[in-house]
Amino acid sequence: MKYLICNLKANKLKDDITLYEENIRNIADDSNIEFIICPPTPFLYLFQNNNYKLGSQDVSQFSNGSYTGENTAEQLSSLKVKYVLVGHSERRNLLNEDESAIINKIKKAYHSHMRPIYFIGEQNTSKEESEANKILERQISHIINEVPDYKREKLIIVYEPLWAIGTGLTPTLSEITTRINFIKKIIKEYYDLSLPVLYGGSVNENNIDELITVGMLDGFVVGGSSLETEALRKIYKKIQKNI
Ligand code: 13P
Repeated sequence: MKYLICNLKANKLKDDITLYEENIRNIADDSNIEFIICPPTPFLYLFQNNNYKLGSQDVSQFSNGSYTGENTAEQLSSLKVKYVLVGHSERRNLLNEDESAIINKIKKAYHSHMRPIYFIGEQNTSKEESEANKILERQISHIINEVPDYKREKLIIVYEPLWAIGTGLTPTLSEITTRINFIKKIIKEYYDLSLPVLYGGSVNENNIDELITVGMLDGFVVGGSSLETEALRKIYKKIQKNI
């Protein structure tokens, strides 16, 4: 099973996104690819078709109640949301989300039967391997230690280095291979788990040919290139060809 996750971020207005939803309905035709769309929260209700799975870009730390402006796990789940992005570096950096918030969000997602998609990755441009490994190890263990054993296997991990987001830059294939290997090794050694590990950061219809050659990757998270239906269709088809 490969994952293709589209993070639309805070893009598009109602008319445009209504058309977008119609255009992406016929992309998915392979049960070996879990095709997940994460629209902006105000438009989740427009994405109720069964040809893709629905993800939320965020979830509240709180349950239903007096929390002005929040979107709770119960509410998202009632809109057919099955996955939730947690720990994205844009939220860590721009909205000061810390690890305790991330843990609370993961717990809320589980409680409403949604799968957390947890983002990790070095935040700066330093490619110093031991430093990056230390960061990844901390990001993984802090979170997984807080998740009850029987729920851990539902976690999806995304390796997405900050410097690769929206920049057109990607790590080399050997850097990605090294990082993914390290992440999978830690998860296996510490927790005896084999979780899906995905790559995100400037994935597009051109570099996907190279990126899919990293066989141990379980899929991709696409930001900017998921906004264009035809680019997204090409990415899907190329992943499909390579399965
Ligand atoms: P880009 O694909 O635009 O680099 O965004 C990546 C991302 O942040 C996906 O979560």
